[in-house]
Amino acid sequence: MMKREELINKIKSKKEFREIPRDLVERVLDKISKKSLLEGEEIKLTRPHGSLRSSTLSSEKVGTTRPHGSLRSSTSSSLISFKKELSDKEKVKLTRALLRKIFSSFFYKGIFSFKGKKAEREEEKSLLSLKVLRKHISTKERLPFYEELYDRIFNRGDKTIIDLGSGVNGFSYPFLKKKINYVGVEAVGQFIEMQNDYFKENKFSAKAVHLSLFELEKLKEIIKKTEKPRVVLMFKIVDALEILERDFSKKLILEMSKISHRIILSFPTKSLSKKSKFRTERKWLFDFLKENLLISEDFKLGSERYLVLLKK
Ligand SMILES: C[S@@+](CC[C@H](N)C(=O)[O-])C[C@H]1O[C@@H](n2cnc3c(N)ncnc32)[C@H](O)[C@@H]1O
Repeated sequence: MMKREELINKIKSKKEFREIPRDLVERVLDKISKKSLLEGEEIKLTRPHGSLRSSTLSSEKVGTTRPHGSLRSSTSSSLISFKKELSDKEKVKLTRALLRKIFSSFFYKGIFSFKGKKAEREEEKSLLSLKVLRKHISTKERLPFYEELYDRIFNRGDKTIIDLGSGVNGFSYPFLKKKINYVGVEAVGQFIEMQNDYFKENKFSAKAVHLSLFELEKLKEIIKKTEKPRVVLMFKIVDALEILERDFSKKLILEMSKISHRIILSFPTKSLSKKSKFRTERKWLFDFLKENLLISEDFKLGSERYLVLLKK
C-alpha cells in the first residue's frame, strides 16, 4: 500500500494536475478515501474540455476513464464498489476523476494555446480576450450579457473586484469600462499565468493569484491589502466548494461579507448536460443568506442567476 504522500505525488504526476494546489489534491483524495460516496451521494463527472456529456460517479457504479478524463459508461466488469477497501490504483483513478470534475470540466480543448499569445494592435487585443472567454463554458455563456451585468453590479465608487474561483473571467476586464483593481483567485495554475500575461501586456490594474479558496486565512490577507470599497464575485463556485466541504461556502460568504462592501453570488440555472434534472432551488443556501445577509438584488441573465448580497 502506498503512503499518502506517494499517492498525492502519483496523482500529481499527470501533467494536467501538476498545477493544482497540493491541499486541494489532498482534499479530493481524502474525500475518495473516506468512501463518503457510500452515503448514497452522487457526483456527476462531466467530460473535460466542454463536451457536455456527463457520467455519474456514485456509490454503486464508477466508470473507467479514457485519455483526457472522459468517462466511459460503466460495464459490470469495470464497476468498482465503494463497499470494499479501495486499492491505490482505484484511489488514484477516482481522485483524478473528481479533480477533473471540479477543475477541468468547464473549459474547452485549446484554451491553453492562448498562453503567452501577444496581440500587437488594439483590435487584436479585444479579439484575444473574446477568444479566451469563448473557450470556457461559464464565460462563453455569459458573453452576451457582460455589459449589462457589469453595468448592473458595479458602482462608480467601487475600487477593487475580488473574483473567487475566477477561471478565465479576468479576460472580461475590458467590459468594466473603467479603471478598477481586479484580483482573481484560482486553483488552475495555467489560468493564472495566462491572465497575468494578459493584464501585464494591457497594463491593467489587475492580477491573478494561485490559491485554494480553502486557504481562508491567506485569502483574507490578500484581500485586506486591497483598496476599499471591495466587491467580491463568487460566480458559479458554490457547487465545487460544497463537493469538498459541506457548508464551506457559507463560511466563505460570511468571512467575505466582513471585509467587502458587496458580494455577487451566481449559480447556473441549468445543468451543463441538460439531461439530468437539475436542482436549482438551493433552499439550504437561501435560508442561510436570508438569515445573515440582505439580498438586495436577485435577477437572471441567460442561464445564470445572480444575487447581490449586502451586510444587514
Ligand atoms: C464553474 S468555474 C467558474 C469560473 C468563473 N467563476 C466564472 O464563472 O466564469 C469554477 C472555477 O472555480 C475554480 N475552483 C473550484 N474550487 C476552487 C478552490 N477550492 N480554490 C480555487 N479555485 C477553485 C475552478 O478551477 C474553476 O475555474
